[in-house]
Amino acid sequence: MSLHRIREQAFRDKDTPFEQAALDIESSALVRLPEALRRRTGGLLRWCGRKLDDMLRPDMRAILLARSVSGISMLHIDSRLALDQCATKCRGAILEIGAFVGGGTITMASAMKRSGNEAPVLAIEVGGSSENPLMPSNDIIRDLKSNLDRYGVVDRVTIIEGWSNEVLGDVERLLAGHKIGLLVIDADGEVIRDICIYRKVLQRGAAIVIDDYASNEPNIKSPVVRAAVEKLVSDGLLRKTKILPWGTWFGTYRG
Ligand SMILES: C[S@@+](CC[C@H](N)C(=O)[O-])C[C@H]1O[C@@H](n2cnc3c(N)ncnc32)[C@H](O)[C@@H]1O
Repeated sequence: MSLHRIREQAFRDKDTPFEQAALDIESSALVRLPEALRRRTGGLLRWCGRKLDDMLRPDMRAILLARSVSGISMLHIDSRLALDQCATKCRGAILEIGAFVGGGTITMASAMKRSGNEAPVLAIEVGGSSENPLMPSNDIIRDLKSNLDRYGVVDRVTIIEGWSNEVLGDVERLLAGHKIGLLVIDADGEVIRDICIYRKVLQRGAAIVIDDYASNEPNIKSPVVRAAVEKLVSDGLLRKTKILPWGTWFGTYRG
């Protein structure tokens, strides 16, 4: 099966559980070929097998995972795939502000595991309940923990329960000297406040992801977020890379 067909299937086949889809991919000829090259050949062919394996398997796993967490994330699948890329390339720690029930957190923690980056993954979440009809929750922290567990990243993520403007001390302690290479803000719209608090632990050039920059629906958060991001850009603290579906802003920290 071609890589294109496998990708298409991974997106389309929404009813197949993640584990089954992962098994299907593992047993597909495309994944078995590099394995066979690695095991049964020597020299150059073995090297090619390893390269193919490195290239294909993470890519397909990321797509499957992005599709699989759709029911537990408010971010568009394209933004989650881009988050996966940012986390894969991240050379420092990850800080997420507003984890909700973990769709984005799982995406980033899984990418860090795949890429072998052992720096901390910290998720700040104030908790409470959600009446969102598509994703209701009676207890956000409980559901966040159980989702992290279900996707095998509960040991890779540290949840910091509280408001982002009250937990800088915890973040600094848990970073244990690491700097943040990827900061994701998807919380109460107070983007300038959060950037000002956490800039002291940000790497220069860190990837910054801010949700609710734009929205097609009437939304009280978007105009506030947009104005904040524009101000940070015009002050030279942030630089835009691109805006992905459902209005998620991607850029870098220039401070
Ligand atoms: C839009 S949801 C986040 C969605 C999540 N990023 C995803 O992938 O689905 C916003 C979350 O941020 C939390 N929150 C809002 N303001 C916060 C703050 N200042 N500090 C910590 N959590 C906050 C809310 O409890 C809620 O769970």
